[in-house]
Amino acid sequence: MTKHYRITLLPGDGIGPEITSVAVAVLKRVGQMLNLQFEFQDALIGGAAIDATGNPLPAETLDTCRNSDAVLLAAIGGYKWDSLPNNSRPERGLLGLRAGLGLFANLRPAKILPQLIDASSLKREIVDGVDIMVVRELTGGIYFGQPKGIFATETGEKRGVNTMAYTDSEIDRIGRVAFDIARKRQSRLCSVDKANVLEVSQLWRDRITQLASDYPDVEVSHLYVDNAAMQLVRAPRQFDTIVTGNLFGDILSDAAAMLTGSIGMLPSASLGEANPGVYEPVHGSAPDIAGQDKANPIAQVLSGAMMLRYGLNEPEAADRIEKAVLTVLDQGLRTGDIMSPGMQLVGCQAMGEALLKALEA
Ligand code: IPM
Ligand code: MG
Repeated sequence: MTKHYRITLLPGDGIGPEITSVAVAVLKRVGQMLNLQFEFQDALIGGAAIDATGNPLPAETLDTCRNSDAVLLAAIGGYKWDSLPNNSRPERGLLGLRAGLGLFANLRPAKILPQLIDASSLKREIVDGVDIMVVRELTGGIYFGQPKGIFATETGEKRGVNTMAYTDSEIDRIGRVAFDIARKRQSRLCSVDKANVLEVSQLWRDRITQLASDYPDVEVSHLYVDNAAMQLVRAPRQFDTIVTGNLFGDILSDAAAMLTGSIGMLPSASLGEANPGVYEPVHGSAPDIAGQDKANPIAQVLSGAMMLRYGLNEPEAADRIEKAVLTVLDQGLRTGDIMSPGMQLVGCQAMGEALLKALEA
């Protein structure tokens, strides 16, 4: 029996469209092999949506996403829109999508592949064996807290304001997601905050400590964010699962990603309670190499695999894609971002074709 899935594609800006077309080809092929039929629907987001409609997240896009089984997003933003005011930038589209779909849990795995160990900017003995899952809260904290804005003061000076706030229930729901994930990994959870300075972090730490009593099998630790940043580059193997707020998670997930050599390899999932999840690479739209067939499509392809695993419950299809990625790396194929001496430099399309071949092998 053929299973049918509706997937919304949000190619976005920069390298987004080229890496999306590779991921779509891979999904189609694995679908043919396993009797999964994907109905892909394109929608606009980010700069592309601003150009076409004046709005980085047209209402139609949100509707299309809500009516699908999962959303595969590429990346948004670029030089062209950099001078727009904050509330009309492409990034607004992404934040609106997260809020609109209630995607409060962002999973960002950073696992070093043996084939790429020498692409890391850190020494082999430090990064060998790194396998971290960053669980980032995504719809609260300073990204969304009120009040926010740039206000005039009585002295005539301007004052920029953002508010970092979390409620009990916001902390508890991301905490539970993180504990559940830690359980499926090595059962070690490190919660990251700034409880030595921030009240919002004190509450965060109290709630995570409280929750821990429901998960006696998970070993919990707490780190201040500055120390966590240092530990990530000093001794990253100490981490299994990390849970943290929106801003700290934004920063630490980039650092964790870079341990693995290239941010061009890493997928992510953003999940909520009811709506479909959004699956996207951790990297951005790389406008400097857009349209030149230089982009690494692997993070996008692996985001497709994550979508199959977490969103559509098709682990076999996910496994096959992940295996194909290892195969092409074993063959020595590399895009520029992960190139090292002795390897074969390929473009985005050639990497896509190699992945299709590897799927069939
Ligand atoms: C990310 C990005 C976004 C964020 C930007 C593009 C709004 O950096 O997904 O990590 O800050 O969340
Ligand atoms: Mg970021």
